[in-house]
Amino acid sequence: MSSLDLDYQNIKPFLTDQEIQSLQPEIDRLHQAFEQGTGKGSDYLGWLGLSTGTSSEQLGAIEQSAQQLRDHCDVFVSIGIGGSYLGARAAISFLSHTFANQLPKGNQGSPEIHFAGHNLNSDYHADLFDLIADRDVCLNVISKSGTTTEPAVAFRLLKEKLENKYGKSGAKKRIVVTTDQAKGALKKLADEEGYTTFVIPDDVGGRYSVLTPVGLLPIAVAGIDIRELMEGAKIGESVCSAHSGLDKNLSYLYAGIRHLLYTKGKTLEVLASFHPSLSYVLEWWKQLAGESEGKEFKGIFPASVEYTTDLHSMGQWVQEGNRILFETFLLVGTSRRQLEIPAFDNDGDGLNYLAGKTLDFVNDKAYKGTAMAHREGKVPNMTITVKDRSPHSLGQLFYFFERAIAMTGYLMDVNPFDQPGVEFYKKNMFTLLNKPGYGKG
Ligand code: PA5
Repeated sequence: MSSLDLDYQNIKPFLTDQEIQSLQPEIDRLHQAFEQGTGKGSDYLGWLGLSTGTSSEQLGAIEQSAQQLRDHCDVFVSIGIGGSYLGARAAISFLSHTFANQLPKGNQGSPEIHFAGHNLNSDYHADLFDLIADRDVCLNVISKSGTTTEPAVAFRLLKEKLENKYGKSGAKKRIVVTTDQAKGALKKLADEEGYTTFVIPDDVGGRYSVLTPVGLLPIAVAGIDIRELMEGAKIGESVCSAHSGLDKNLSYLYAGIRHLLYTKGKTLEVLASFHPSLSYVLEWWKQLAGESEGKEFKGIFPASVEYTTDLHSMGQWVQEGNRILFETFLLVGTSRRQLEIPAFDNDGDGLNYLAGKTLDFVNDKAYKGTAMAHREGKVPNMTITVKDRSPHSLGQLFYFFERAIAMTGYLMDVNPFDQPGVEFYKKNMFTLLNKPGYGKG
């Protein structure tokens, strides 16, 4: 059963059904390129089949390792950047209690989860070290290339802390590495030190890797059912591989609409949520879209806002700023819990008209009012609704977006699976740092 819905009524004043339908032959052709592995970047299509291709034994090994980590630590630090960071963070924050890290471990049986290596900031990492100083800590360092500077530096710092505290052999039991099966400095180090290691498949790039051990191990450490997540993704996978028709394949419908709006000069997409648990799902989506499409001087600039918070901030820009944008609302069908607004005898704050209504009810009216206002303000908008905050629904959502962004990349005729632009800052930084082989800064 699909947990996802796509409503594009508020696109119709800007894009006709005929225009959308006219894309069908092109989408059919590109669908074949996915299925037969004949399109751009076809060495990196492994993500298409992860939900059916990952065995129960592979999931079992991840679950077992996650359980050991859960048993041994109060604090779990996931070290990585970009695609080796955002998927896990998105899933953990979407599926966990909002204040999971502040709850005592006994409450959920899960350790506190923190992230490192996604910046080069000393305050951030020094503050993290304060936080973990007197706690039992485990680490998962994640890097496909095994050479990325940010996580490598964070790992070096944290490894030293663990070895000082537990000794080399004690630290070894608390460190798990997720990396390439053969290449990279991290793989070499893991072999030398004898760390437990999980492999990132060769044919899956970073931002498409949330359903590999890259995402699954930290997600399992947070106590989330990764089999349910994979089952959800399986639904996306089976629909998307069987159907290219825009009436059945919502990923392709979303991709087609994005592409057509882009060709009409709408070069900026705002993904707008009304549920704070989606905060890092928005970040994950931005990376997926930005790195996949932004090349050869093409691409939709992916931005995000969190409503209603940002209705008192960026909402002004969306309503009346430069008309280069379209908006995609990302909603959660039902919150886990409902809070009713109480009636007061003294209606001093004037809120009795809302008495007995839930916050979700009011939030929904805020969404509907915003969608109408933005449509009137000439912002084409559509709405993706994910049924609930379950691993099953999130698995579908991950697959939905991956397939849609890859399809938009193909429609733009770019390779959605490389990121050559990321190398430019690195080269300059390495030169400035006098890294061997990069010349003098
Ligand atoms: O999507 C990508 O490929 C990138 O964002 C990478 O995930 C990111 O640069 C981190 O790379 P690595 O896993 O090699 O450390």
